Amino acid sequence: MEHKLTRGIVAFISVLIIVAAIAIMGYFFIFGDLFPVNKEKTEPVQKREVNALTLYHWWTSPGESAAIQSLITVFTKKYPDVAIVAAPVTGGAGFTMLPIVKTLVENGEAPDAFQMHAGYEAKPYLDAGLLDPIDYIWGSENLEQAIPKVIRDMLQFNGHYYAVPVDVHRVNVVWYNKKILSAHNINPDNITTWDDFFAACEKLRTAGVSYPVALGPTWTAAHAFEQILASQGIEFYEDFINGKISSADDQRLIKAFSTFERYITFANPDHATLREWDVANKRIINGESAFSIMGDWANAEFKLVGMTYGNEYGSFPVPGTNNMYGLSIDTFQHPKGVSHPTNSDRWLREVVSVEGQDTFNPIKGSIAARSDSDVTKYEGYQRLAIADFNSVRYMFPSIVHGSGGPSSLRLKLNEVAGIFSADPDVSFAAGSLADNFTKTIFEYTKTWSLR
Ligand code: GAL
Repeated sequence: MEHKLTRGIVAFISVLIIVAAIAIMGYFFIFGDLFPVNKEKTEPVQKREVNALTLYHWWTSPGESAAIQSLITVFTKKYPDVAIVAAPVTGGAGFTMLPIVKTLVENGEAPDAFQMHAGYEAKPYLDAGLLDPIDYIWGSENLEQAIPKVIRDMLQFNGHYYAVPVDVHRVNVVWYNKKILSAHNINPDNITTWDDFFAACEKLRTAGVSYPVALGPTWTAAHAFEQILASQGIEFYEDFINGKISSADDQRLIKAFSTFERYITFANPDHATLREWDVANKRIINGESAFSIMGDWANAEFKLVGMTYGNEYGSFPVPGTNNMYGLSIDTFQHPKGVSHPTNSDRWLREVVSVEGQDTFNPIKGSIAARSDSDVTKYEGYQRLAIADFNSVRYMFPSIVHGSGGPSSLRLKLNEVAGIFSADPDVSFAAGSLADNFTKTIFEYTKTWSLR
């Protein structure tokens, strides 16, 4: 009897303990962890990656859009499950997109990759520690063997790589409509000096071509002026991007502005109001104007409308820059803390691969950044560009296209060229640039050796 009683009590207490244990575990299951103190050590937080890739770029002209779309198509074939969220921002040379992306990156909302020029343009991000080094990609893809030194040097900072190139654009190019020149007996092969160029413009104007030169919005004026600066010689250009032009009386600077003034007199007066560079380029395509100084992304537009190089359109180096190759190199990178790190790396590997480069560049107008790309995929202008890239004496980084100088120089050049193209005042413009060099000299952290 006593035994039975004891067994009953034991059973009752056991049930009580089990119920209490279940209640306690249930409480912690719903409201918190059982052993919260050790949580971080025992259970590292896993960041779950949604399968997407966010991309920012400014390739919005018809030729540019076709080029980026071709690259996206190749990527999507390889990674069909990755949703690409591409955000194109209109505005040539990145003048509109770059400040937008900079704010996103600084606020910790960086896209998985974004279009960025090689050289100085990466500097503000690097100074703030906002890009991850990607030496592992350079290593696994053997990029040091494939990418020429002149490009590598523009992508390496403190011994680390932070970006991969997608293309190499040449900026010191004059494009022309062959039919107009032939109709007026102008042989473009004979245009090698500024005097030759302006004589051809004069001839066209006298014959009724009101605006022999097609010019677009402000940055395209800065672009043209940059090539005129280069035409003063590599020594001058080197001094310029090293911040060494501190005198407004520098004769080479004065000469550059005088040449620019002549250039503007032959240009369409509505240039500042044009939506973008490709609108000005359209005027060469349809024969309204004959010439335009523009980077070889213009090549994409001529090709897209079915014009053939050498027959309907052509190009020659900006007078005085025959032995020079001005560089605008587009890159992508891996910003710190991106939402989709795996896809960011996949994109970088794809854009820098032989397949990626030889898909994108033949459409884009540029040449590949790899020396082992398949030359047979390129034709017309690009064949000549490849030969020139491998043989010209001097390479120079574009300022307007982000590489050759701190952003203060890029912005100043844009401002000065914009004002000058509306109201040319040589000594005011030269003074404004020289003054800017004096004020910002501490920002010139890289010393270029172009000779
Ligand atoms: C350059 C860029 C080219 C092209 C061009 C016009 O800065 O390198 O890829 O997009 O601007 O927007």
